[in-house]
This record gives sequence, structure tokens and C-alpha cells, in this order.
Amino acid sequence: MEHSFGERDARSVIHGLTNLKLHADRGATVIERGQGVWVTDNHGKNYIEAMSGLWCIALGYGNERLAEVAARQMKALAYYPLTNHKSHPPVIELAEELLSMAPVPMSKVWFASTGSEANDCAVRLAWYYWNAVGQPQKKKFIAHKLAYHGNTVATASLSGVSYAHERFNLPLPGFLHVTTPHHMRHAQPGESEEQFGNRLIAEIEQLIAREGADTIAAFFTEPVMAAGGIVVPPKGYFERLHNVLFLNDILLVCDEVVTAFGRIGDMFGATAMGLKPDMLVCAKALSSAYIPISALLMNERIYQAIARQSDELGVFGLTMTYSGHPVAAAVALETLKIYDEMDIAARVRKLEAPFLGGLNRLLEHPLVGEVRGRGLLAGVELCHAETRLPFDPKHKAGALCARIAEEQGLIVRAIGDTIAFCPPLIINEGEIGEMLRRLRIALDLTAAELAKTAA
Ligand SMILES: Cc1ncc(COP(=O)(O)O)c(C=O)c1O
Repeated sequence: MEHSFGERDARSVIHGLTNLKLHADRGATVIERGQGVWVTDNHGKNYIEAMSGLWCIALGYGNERLAEVAARQMKALAYYPLTNHKSHPPVIELAEELLSMAPVPMSKVWFASTGSEANDCAVRLAWYYWNAVGQPQKKKFIAHKLAYHGNTVATASLSGVSYAHERFNLPLPGFLHVTTPHHMRHAQPGESEEQFGNRLIAEIEQLIAREGADTIAAFFTEPVMAAGGIVVPPKGYFERLHNVLFLNDILLVCDEVVTAFGRIGDMFGATAMGLKPDMLVCAKALSSAYIPISALLMNERIYQAIARQSDELGVFGLTMTYSGHPVAAAVALETLKIYDEMDIAARVRKLEAPFLGGLNRLLEHPLVGEVRGRGLLAGVELCHAETRLPFDPKHKAGALCARIAEEQGLIVRAIGDTIAFCPPLIINEGEIGEMLRRLRIALDLTAAELAKTAA
């Protein structure tokens, strides 16, 4: 008997963020094709991909220009390493372009293949930097609880999510986590957004005092937390954070793996949220996910110190086979050209009203407790229809809603009971309308289902 792709997958492939036992029983949803914001499975069913895959396929599926550039570059120079003073035109042009776009003055670019690797390199560069400037005791890192920064040993430690730690013997010592700046979830009764932000800054100050500022290398943050549940920090939070980091001589690393290249209405989230990082990491939309590539931008202060130290040591000991891969660099360069031609950030600002406005209208739905977001990044928080309180996690309301949405031809992601939206930036108003229509049906069906089990 011939087995389906779904069954064959279950026999041969391991999937991340998946219950492996359940997967072995149910098999895979097999996606075969994509065009624009739509993907099609192997049974011919169409879905709106409202998560851009994993927050990444910004230009949607089927972009001919990116495919052609990749093929051309493969024929011209399929690969060349950047070690030992070698280079090639695509990587030079891409670095120049990124430096010219950067939200704050940046000096040099280091390339890797994934967001995790680039953040991992930022951890190593922070250590390398503090050793170079004679402060080798500055070794610890601070990040937010629930933040996701990647899945290498260091970046899983940096991440504040239990699934990256539990039974993996992580986090490593020296990776510290502070409260998620999410007012709805963590404010005390009667606490305003401003008071809440001030309390969290005081918490960070106390942590730094307790650990010793001279032991802390860097603070990592996303401008808007994506996988942490779409969290927009309170007004003034980042401004005050800057002050604290400056006074304590702690580096700021901005993880823009999701937010860079227009996602929240500016080319960089750092601009939108007033962040002035020493290092900035981008990936995902850098190539619109057509090929893996990530970049770590560093300022002159860091570059000067690491250059001096590499001279002392005779070599800069960071190397990756695919750092600055020419095909990936050529695709990224073309992606940035397309963003420029489309004026992508302005497009996102224009679409924010129908997108967030439409989601906000769902607040009248009994299952919707909060809508938050910025640009084309949003989270819809489900709540109990009668009590308006969060569901008991055992009801898995978010996962249920995401599964029902998928049956309705809408791919979203449940982060606990937050339904996350991060559609391709090429989505149009008609498609946003269709996304909202399918979501409303999914909410009605989810409410009916939950009324039976979570009454
Ligand atoms: C904010 C953020 N940082 C880092 C990463 C890790 O990137 P990658 O999966 O490409 O390693 C992700 C992945 O979703 C992310 O959302």
C-alpha cells in the first residue's frame, strides 16, 4: 500500500514546536505550493498564511525576481568563503546597503545564516569586546522572560521560555531574566502603564545592583516581542532602560529578527521604539525567507575594540562556512531593493488601520479580551466569554482556535491563548478582509466548542 506524504513525514521527519508523539499519530499537514499570501496543501486546499510562515516570508510566495537572482548568482559564483581576506561583490554591496539603512550609526556587518546564530555571535562578541577593553568580569546577560532569541545553547539560555530550557539543562548560568513588559498580564491592580513601566525599570536596576554592574555584559531586547505574545512595551520604558544601561556601562543588543524591514511601520523597530543599540541583529525578512541569511550590525566602539584584539591575537576567531554566502547575499540585496521600490514601511503604515482596526473590532466578540500590536504584527488575546478572565491553560483555548482557523483556511499561531498575526507585507486590503472574515468564523466555532468544555 502506498503511504501519503503526511504519513511518510511522520515516519521520517522530526518537527520543532510540535508534540512528537501526537505527530506520529496524526501525521503532517503537507504544504506544496505558495503564491502571494496563499499556500496550498497536497489535497488542493488553500490557506491564507497569516503568520508569514515563522514571521518571515515578507514578500509572500512566488516572487520571480528573487528566484531569478538566486539562479543567476548560483551560476556566476555559487559559493565563496569570507575567511582569509576573501570577499565577493554581493556581500560587499549588502553590507554597504545595511550600513546605509541602519537606524543608528553602525560600523561593520557580520553575516550568519539564522537569527539564532547571529544572536549567538552577539553574545560571543559582547564577551570578546569586554575582554578587549580590560573588563573580563563582564559576562552576564539580561533578557525578558518569555522573549525568544533563538535555539543555540547561548540563545536558548537568553530566551525566557521554559520550552527552550526544560530537560535541555538550560539556561546556562549567567543568563538572567526580567519581567515581560506586558501591562495587561503583569500590572498590579490599579497600576497605570507608566507606573508599571517604572516598576519594571526599578526591577532591572535592583537586579543590576544585586549582581554588580561590573558583571553584566549586555541587555538583549526586541523592539516589540513577537514569540513572547506580541508585547509592545509601555511608553517611556525603553527611554528609561537606555538610561540605566548607560549609567551601568551595559551594552544594548536589539534583536530585530522579526521587526526589521518594515514589519512595525518603520524600516527598523529600533526607530519605531526609540532604541539606540550597540549591536543590531536581523534575519528572516532580510531575504524574505527565500534563503537563510542573518546579519549582526555593530557600532564603531565595538568594532575598534575587536579589531585591536584580533590584531593582538593574530586572528578574529569567529568563522562560519556560510557567513556572507553569495547566493544568500544576492537574494537579500534584491529583497532590500524591492522593499525600497515598494516603500515597504509606508505601505505597512497604510495597512495598519484596516489590519489593527479590523482586529480591534473583534473586541466585541465574547471570546476576545485584548488586541495589541503595531504595523502588521498583532496578537488577539482570548478570554472566557462570561467571566472575561483568562482561560485555565488546561483548556488550550488558543491551540483550539488555531486548529479551527486552519480548518477554515487561515494559518495563525497560538502562543498560549494569544492568536498571533504576522501576514506577508504584500497583503492587500481585500486579503485582510478575508483574513478577518475567516477569523470571525473560527472565533464563533471556538466559542461554541469551549462552551461545551470550559463552561
Ligand atoms: C526575535 C527572534 N530572535 C531570534 C529568532 C531565532 O531565529 P532563527 O529561528 O532564524 O534562528 C527568532 C525566531 O523566531 C525570533 O523571533
